[in-house]
Parts: sequence; structure tokens; C-alpha cells
Amino acid sequence: MNWDDDTTAEAAEAEARIVGAAAEGDDQAVEAALRPKDLSEFVGQEKVRQQLDLVLKAARQRGATADHVLLSGAPGLGKTTLSMIIAAEMNAPIRITSGPAIQHAGDLAAILSSLQEGEILFLDEIHRMSRPAEEMLYMAMEDFRVDVIVGKGPGATAIPLELPPFTLVGATTRAGLLPPPLRDRFGFTAHMEFYDPGELQRVIHRSAGLLDVEIDPDGAAEIAGRSRGTPRIANRLLRRVRDYAQVKADGVITREIAEAALRVYEVDSRGLDRLDRAVLEALLKLFGGGPVGLSTLAVAVGEERETVEEVAEPFLVREGLLARTPRGRVATPAAWTHIGLVPPQAAGLGSAGNGTGMGQQGLFGA
Ligand SMILES: Nc1ncnc2c1ncn2[C@@H]1O[C@H](COP(=O)(O)OP(=O)(O)O)[C@@H](O)[C@H]1O
Ligand SMILES: [Mg+2]
Repeated sequence: MNWDDDTTAEAAEAEARIVGAAAEGDDQAVEAALRPKDLSEFVGQEKVRQQLDLVLKAARQRGATADHVLLSGAPGLGKTTLSMIIAAEMNAPIRITSGPAIQHAGDLAAILSSLQEGEILFLDEIHRMSRPAEEMLYMAMEDFRVDVIVGKGPGATAIPLELPPFTLVGATTRAGLLPPPLRDRFGFTAHMEFYDPGELQRVIHRSAGLLDVEIDPDGAAEIAGRSRGTPRIANRLLRRVRDYAQVKADGVITREIAEAALRVYEVDSRGLDRLDRAVLEALLKLFGGGPVGLSTLAVAVGEERETVEEVAEPFLVREGLLARTPRGRVATPAAWTHIGLVPPQAAGLGSAGNGTGMGQQGLFGA
């Protein structure tokens, strides 16, 4: 069962990208080895960690099962990892499934009725569950009971079935897509944030230790800065840099080695890849920074609209390099600097403006 596959629009990337946030290729096997086993090993996410620690400790003290937990956040931030940590901290077995795997309410009934007391049920991509299954889940979460339908048509009867108390851990990349009745049945919701470079550096050091790779702080910082705030990407870049260090150098990862390796893989200093840069360069060089329509921009880089919109743009927007405006896509001043170009207005033509309301010409001395 491919439960670790975050098949969202973001993750439905045409080809495996080295900076893609979804698990690809050998990621799953390696990630299993790199997963922190308890809360104290889990890097960053201070607030979530503190809150979860309280929820779990309190449940343990009461000798009860923990409240249902919803983990929401972008792919690769540690939702699956946290679900396993919850099971470990509660010393409970964990059952793993995902929304897309539950097509019929019957699928869910089968899983629920076989749970042991105190078991953790991890439901990944919970927003992709079918509607009838969702309704069954409401009752299971609240009353630890399901109605199993036996028979078909007018003769069908609902047989109520008691469930042992269990803890549902739901994970979603789209908390906003969850129907409120479902969201409301979670006792605790953890919002996972992107990691800052210092935290990613700690993730990288920890993983390097487990992979038995030597890395110095500058090397780790260089990889961290290119990892898009995402531990999964940090771990993947680390593995590619390790390969390079092994083949081209003495195996030790320094800043120079990390830079050289990631140049080979076309991951730039901010974590933009070839596609991201192509979009940005087209916007700047062909369209003077915009505004330009999405379709025109897509044709200019030879990609589908959807690829530009769903694969490249979210990160460019998050990084403050590109803005989506009603008149089209617009580059921000930071985009010009990042690509190493001078915005047209900065050449001393006064403050005519480029119609974006974003020209901060003063920032670009000549
Ligand atoms: N806080 C963290 N500390 C250390 N490693 C982490 C952390 N969060 C995620 N990782 C690592 O990143 C990878 C992806 O995490 P995962 O839990 O599968 O993300 P998600 O389920 O949110 O997509 C795993 O290898 C995991 O070890
Ligand atoms: Mg996951």
C-alpha cells in the first residue's frame, strides 16, 4: 500500500524533481531509516511538539487513549513521522492506511472493527476519503461505534457494532478541504510549518550521522538553504551531495562540495530548480517582469499551464519572487536580484513604474 504518497496537485509532478516535496523513488526506504523515533528526536516544530507532548502525557497519566489528532501541513514536513511517534509515545500499535485506499464505507468498517484497544489508526490524506466512509468515521470517532450494513436494498439492516477506544491520527495537506464536522471531531490539530534553515541544518546533521556521512556546519548550512523549508528535500539533497562527495572528493561534505554537487543537480542557492528558474527568467527577460498571462508564460517555457501553475509557482510565490495579480504574473524586485538582473526602472528612468505597484527602484543602486 503506497500510503506515503502525497498525491496532491502539488505532488503530481510530471517527473521526479530533486526539489519535489513528495516521496519519490528510493525515498520511502531511506526515510524509514531516517525517521525520528520519539518526540525528543523530532527537530523543530516547537509549538506542535510541546502541545502534542502534553496531550500524550495527559492521556498516559489518565491511562486513557489520546484524543484524535489532525496533522495538517505541506508534504515532507513530518506528518507520517509524527504519527509513528505518537504510537511509540503511547506504546501502542499503529495501523496505517490512507483516504484514497478507503473507497467504500465497508473498507473502513473492516479496518475499524479489527482495531485493538488503544491502537493508533493513521489515516493519511484524510481529505481524499469517500463521503460515505467519512460519515461512518464521524460516528466511530465520537461514539466508538459503527453501523455495519448487512444485505442490500429494502432488506438491508444496520447492525450497530461497538469499537474499542482508539486514537485516529489524520494527516492532510489541505486542512481547508476537510468538512467542518470532521475537523471538529479532532481533539487536537497540529499545524506544521515550514522549517527554518537552522532547524533544517539540525535535520541534516542528524541524518548525516545516521547515514555515516561526514559533514561540516557550512556544508549543512548550504544544503539547508536549498531545501525549501522541507526535511524530506533536505534529506534527499544530502544523499545526492553525499554521492558527489564520495565520487569527486574525499567523502567529506563542505560548503564547496555542497555547492558543486547541487550545481550538477541544478538546485540553486535558494532551492529553485531548472523549471523554477526557467519560469522566472522568461518572466524577466521576455516580458520585462510582467504582468503576463499564465498561458503565455507557459508557452514561453515550453510547459503546460498546469505545470507552471502547480509545480513551479507555489514555491516562487512563497519565496516572494513572483506574484499572481488579476492582470497576470509579475516578478517582484527580489526576483530580479536573484536572477542577477537589474530591473528596467533601476537604470535611471525615473519612477514611471511598471504597472505592478511593486517597483522599489531605490533598492537597486544603478
Ligand atoms: N522534525 C523532523 N526532524 C527530523 N526529520 C524529519 C522531521 N520531519 C520530517 N523528517 C524527515 O523527513 C522525511 C519526510 O517526513 P514525513 O513524515 O514522511 O513527511 P510527510 O508525511 O509530512 O510528507 C522523513 O524521512 C523524516 O525522517
Ligand atoms: Mg506522509
